[in-house]
Amino acid sequence: MDLAGIRRLLEPGPIVLVSSHWQNHHNISTMGWHCVMEFTPSLIGCMITSANHSYNMIEKSGECVINIPTADMLDTIVGIGNTSGKRVNKFKKYGLTPGEAQTVSAPVIEECYAHFECRVADRRMLAKYNFFILEVTHARCALWPRFPKTVHYRGEGIFMESGRNIARPEKFRPQNL
Ligand SMILES: Cc1cc2nc3c(=O)[nH]c(=O)nc-3n(C[C@H](O)[C@H](O)[C@H](O)COP(=O)(O)O)c2cc1C
Repeated sequence: MDLAGIRRLLEPGPIVLVSSHWQNHHNISTMGWHCVMEFTPSLIGCMITSANHSYNMIEKSGECVINIPTADMLDTIVGIGNTSGKRVNKFKKYGLTPGEAQTVSAPVIEECYAHFECRVADRRMLAKYNFFILEVTHARCALWPRFPKTVHYRGEGIFMESGRNIARPEKFRPQNL
């Protein structure tokens, strides 16, 4: 296999929309490369290329919101992931509603079903890997549906929707997961 392509077989979870705010300007970016790093405090690691406008906004403000969109938002997700926010207001362009967050100045995206407000907790891997370690400072999630259809990226323009749930008895689960 082409080594750069192995990421396609290791997709980490739902595609998310990262919103940010800096100097009276909102922005949104599409992000697939994220991972949970710790439960308490709640830490999320994510790779945001330094060429992206969002990188500068999050690096300067030290804040962002991770919004989880549903599969019906796929065209918006792809559009946002192919547009730079340097000159375009993506909230306006994609008809999204910025809402007030409780702990950060970055806006939540009202159309998404979950919002995790984050502060940059550790910058040590930024210069080398463009890797932000974020601490979630406040989170909210729609109560229904319990398992909304999320969208996952398989690379080369192919996406998949989350599918059926498979339950296992409690005793087979690793503790706390
Ligand atoms: C499905 C998808 C997933 C993406 N995942 C990431 C990612 O994890 N990290 C990243 O830096 N860019 C990712 N991108 C690219 C950015 O979303 C894209 O460069 C965007 O235009 C950046 O916007 P900005 O310059 O306004 O921040 C992804 C794009 C798509 C379509």
